[in-house]
Amino acid sequence: MVNKSAHNALLDWYTTDGRHELPWRKTNDIYHIYISEIMLQQTQVNRVRDEYYPKFLARFPSIKTLAEAELDEVFVLWSGLGYYSRARNLHKTAQLALNGLPCEKKELLKLPGIGEYTASAICSFGYRQNIPVVDTNIARVLKRYFGLLEVQDKTLWEYAASFVNAADARAHNLALMDLGSLVCLPKNPQCEMCPLRLECKGKGEPELYTQKKKKEYERLELFYALYIKDGKIALRTSQEKLYKGMLVLPNTEPIEENFIAAFKHSYTKYRLTVNLYHVDKITDEFVWVELKELENAPISSLTKKAAVFIEKKGEIYGF
Ligand code: ADE
Repeated sequence: MVNKSAHNALLDWYTTDGRHELPWRKTNDIYHIYISEIMLQQTQVNRVRDEYYPKFLARFPSIKTLAEAELDEVFVLWSGLGYYSRARNLHKTAQLALNGLPCEKKELLKLPGIGEYTASAICSFGYRQNIPVVDTNIARVLKRYFGLLEVQDKTLWEYAASFVNAADARAHNLALMDLGSLVCLPKNPQCEMCPLRLECKGKGEPELYTQKKKKEYERLELFYALYIKDGKIALRTSQEKLYKGMLVLPNTEPIEENFIAAFKHSYTKYRLTVNLYHVDKITDEFVWVELKELENAPISSLTKKAAVFIEKKGEIYGF
């Protein structure tokens, strides 16, 4: 199955057209590579590269600094990235791997938040091992190249393993990833520019391989209290799965005359309608946070969005 000319064409293409400038590709620091991979799950490359990755590593340059930090501080630097369980797992993993991340995939898989993809990415991109990597971009390239319809993940990994180029597995995997994100696009792939076009089984009908299952959304309506006094706002530590451990607005009953505003917010599979109410008493446990300090607190994008209304309505309610 291994095709030398395809391997060479792919590596040549990567040399000229690959994204070599991404900072996590220019480092050998395994911890930095690990951080990038966790951030890049579900988050766009540009946001990670320009914003979150440099900021996070400036504060936590080593696994030890991360392990010794308070979880709250990790949340603050994660704020806006979503999927906050990733931040929690990152912190736990740092504490479990204080002396450095293991170089065996089997050992990496035992750490919280590290699955098949991340373990392989660390071994291939960091430790430069001769192993396959499959993410969504690579999966699309492989499905088209090998003409695989309705294929199980396990089979896809087997195809990836049979195709991996032992001469430079790291560059081969990164090339497939870049091909998927720059050329072999889900819609209107640029087949004429593709180094794998000669043997590609999917090029006649590339969109056959990207028919997605319809996403299932869950709609929820939330009712939050804005309790603000002397320049401080009441927040509670969430015990719920979604924002566990972060500071969130307290819940309230919807009392019509205290209604301030409503806004929409999307978070993972949830489509939320968030209603804000002015209250002057809270019975549940809460902590006061200085409004001036809100942006440095461990809060989610949802609470940040709500903060805009806090500012707008401040005058009316005399906050
Ligand atoms: N380079 C290495 N890993 C990457 C990823 N997950 N996304 C984009 N570029 C990468």
